[in-house]
Amino acid sequence: MILLTGATGKTGGELARQLNNADIPFSAIARSRDKAAELLDMEADVVFGDLEDRDFLAAAMAGIEKAVLIMPNVENQLAVEKQFIDVAKETGVQHIVYQSSLESVPGSTNPITGIHVATEEYLKAAGLAWTMIRPGFFMQTFAASAPRIKESGNIVLPLGSATLCATDLRDVAAIMVKVLTEPGHENQSYDITGPELITMEEVAARFSQILGREYKYVDLPLDAFKGALKNAGFNDWRVNAVACELNSIANGSLDHTTETVQQLLGREANSIDKFISDHAELFR
Ligand SMILES: NC(=O)c1ccc[n+]([C@@H]2O[C@H](COP(=O)([O-])OP(=O)(O)OC[C@H]3O[C@@H](n4cnc5c(N)ncnc54)[C@H](OP(=O)(O)O)[C@@H]3O)[C@@H](O)[C@H]2O)c1
Repeated sequence: MILLTGATGKTGGELARQLNNADIPFSAIARSRDKAAELLDMEADVVFGDLEDRDFLAAAMAGIEKAVLIMPNVENQLAVEKQFIDVAKETGVQHIVYQSSLESVPGSTNPITGIHVATEEYLKAAGLAWTMIRPGFFMQTFAASAPRIKESGNIVLPLGSATLCATDLRDVAAIMVKVLTEPGHENQSYDITGPELITMEEVAARFSQILGREYKYVDLPLDAFKGALKNAGFNDWRVNAVACELNSIANGSLDHTTETVQQLLGREANSIDKFISDHAELFR
């Protein structure tokens, strides 16, 4: 049996949808019934609890062979992820699929990439089979601020004129489905990106071209961006962590693409044009 974490979030939610559409049974951890409404409509075994709760985790992992670990970027992410790996080992889970990120390379000192590097190292040393899923910048980031983009026509980020590998998490989830259902992906790291490098100016131009109205990229100074995160209720750790991440992207940390989608799925990775067309109603 497969166990999903993060199944009410962006990547885990898409993974749940794809598993469900393919009639692949799975179990999913959720924290609230409200957020789990879509999961509860699926043929899934939904268990309610918190990843921080060791006893709950041990019960949720009974009989699980493969577990997908997806955590948001929070201050105790590393501790929760290490505990997850420990409990998986104790309960006989054989394989952990871990969502890391493309820019998490050894030596990275950013809070978020530092956590991913440390968890990857911990998982590799744990003695279970592992697969690292390492995506670039999610195109779905634009969907998260769709109401503001729709209203103002502005795409606001502190990314300067950097080129980056925008990545459709539908491709990421499709690769996870393969990893969970086929042999041969044990102890592999998959760096996953979209098909092209693109600047935010170009992203705005594609939005304009495809949706038929004008969109603009607003390059917000990093301090102003941090102020906006603080106003949105982010705590100091998260404000700093997200700002460091975006600053490193602005300085080129996602300035490359990979062939992983083509190699594993046998098709082109989804382009930003496809993402915009498929989500047109959110932005127009
Ligand atoms: N954003 C990007 O561009 C990008 C790119 C590459 C990699 N990543 C990595 O992707 C990861 C985040 O993935 P995502 O964006 O798909 O996640 P997300 O949308 O932020 O969702 C997080 C999920 O984790 C659940 N969760 C959080 N804390 C929990 C806890 N204590 N117990 C149980 N469940 C808990 C949430 O449940 P609730 O619904 O209950 O809150 C939600 O389902 C991060 O590690 C990030 O570094 C992100």
